[in-house]
Amino acid sequence: MKIEMNSLDAKQTHDLLTGSIAPLPIALISTVGEDGIYNAAPYSLVIPISWKPPLVCVSIASKKGGKKDTLMNIQFSKDFVINIMGDDRIKPTIKTAGNYPSNVDEIEKVGLTAITAEKVRSPLIKEAQVSIECRLSQEMVLGEGENIRWLIFGEVVLVHLKDGIWTSGKIDPAALRAVGRMGDGIYCRSTDTFTLLM
Ligand SMILES: Cc1cc2nc3c(=O)[nH]c(=O)nc-3n(C[C@H](O)[C@H](O)[C@H](O)COP(=O)(O)O)c2cc1C
Repeated sequence: MKIEMNSLDAKQTHDLLTGSIAPLPIALISTVGEDGIYNAAPYSLVIPISWKPPLVCVSIASKKGGKKDTLMNIQFSKDFVINIMGDDRIKPTIKTAGNYPSNVDEIEKVGLTAITAEKVRSPLIKEAQVSIECRLSQEMVLGEGENIRWLIFGEVVLVHLKDGIWTSGKIDPAALRAVGRMGDGIYCRSTDTFTLLM
């Protein structure tokens, strides 16, 4: 079977590409708004892209042609935190994607805890396995109208890890217990691993 891309609408293209290029990570991105209210939402289009400087890239879609709270907050504070949650916290993580008004702190709403970060204004999520403090490095706008999206490049300035996750200079996936996204509502665990030595 072959699929011509011009036969698909945006949602179908999303489902085809994010379902095939899988698993994608789930980053709970925490930010702070101009009003001081904390915000968090899950993002899967998140990728580390450079080591010197240490950069990550996040792709943020529009919300009916406008900006999602995460984007507005990043543009205000010029920073954000990427939190990787263990499999036991994935339900509240996904719940933060609910349709909450901007003045609602989704972190508190779903039963997670925001704590002060060290180098950025955005909060850390206390329950996270790993929290990555990032400063906005640059942004790029792609597409237009309802299909406009923003690529946010962040420079990693500090990484917090729960004990036992970073051992001998490597991340232990069994200790990380991260969850991957396989498609709409379908997830997998990072604990089913195997080793291939080159
Ligand atoms: C597992 C998962 C992954 C998601 N990944 C993205 C993503 O990479 N980019 C995006 O724009 N929205 C993504 N979303 C949708 C946002 O989480 C959703 O629009 C959310 O309400 C945005 O909240 P905010 O307005 O507080 O930023 C994802 C949702 C889920 C459940």
